[in-house]
Amino acid sequence: MTLPIRIAPSILAADYARLGEEVRDVVAAGADWIHLDIMDGHFVPNISFGPDVIKALRPHTDAFFDCHLMIAPADPYLEAFAKAGCDSITVHAEAGHHLDRSVQAIKALGKRAGVAINPATPESVLEYLLDKLDLILVMTVNPGFGGQKFIPAMEEKIRRVRAMIGERPIDLQVDGGIATDTIALPASAGANVFVAGSAIFGGGHVDAYRKTVETLRGNAEGARA
Ligand code: DX5
Ligand code: ZN
Repeated sequence: MTLPIRIAPSILAADYARLGEEVRDVVAAGADWIHLDIMDGHFVPNISFGPDVIKALRPHTDAFFDCHLMIAPADPYLEAFAKAGCDSITVHAEAGHHLDRSVQAIKALGKRAGVAINPATPESVLEYLLDKLDLILVMTVNPGFGGQKFIPAMEEKIRRVRAMIGERPIDLQVDGGIATDTIALPASAGANVFVAGSAIFGGGHVDAYRKTVETLRGNAEGARA
């Protein structure tokens, strides 16, 4: 099944003092989803923002809110992120002992459920969850910081996950080091949702965002064809 290409700017790289405006600008620039990177200073060595910030952003756009939880434990906070207005919630396979339970909890909250795997985690952890998942996130850097380099070995993992997914309607997302000159690799390997932080927000203003989003989309489509 060929799912549409979606460009998902991560506001981790946006100007935090103008977050509402940044979200509106990047949506006006053609972004499909808004990627929300939640970091707890425990599962990853950095702290970002929490559900109250998402709640404050929600009235600024109707765009799909794609929440990537880099927190452990995640289960006690799922309801807060759902209520804050996230449309999709992704938990890390490495963040708890009961991944199936976390996925069930997200679905019970009426949200799309995703599972993320770190670069060193084998894709086999996804095998018995496939029929419950809406999204799989293959991390292409070690999570925690924006602006890192795409890890080339992840291309093979993306291909394997693509094959595991088969005809299921599961989005295959990549996150980390995605830019106009690196997006072709994961796109040709089978990814359809592309997170980009510094590549987009590094542009600094809406015209640059538009140009980058268009180029990312064009390069991904070209690689897929
Ligand atoms: C990494 C985050 C990413 C990050 C991507 O921990 O999950 O979403 O913001 O940033 P770039 O696109 O700059 O690599
Ligand atoms: Zn992310």
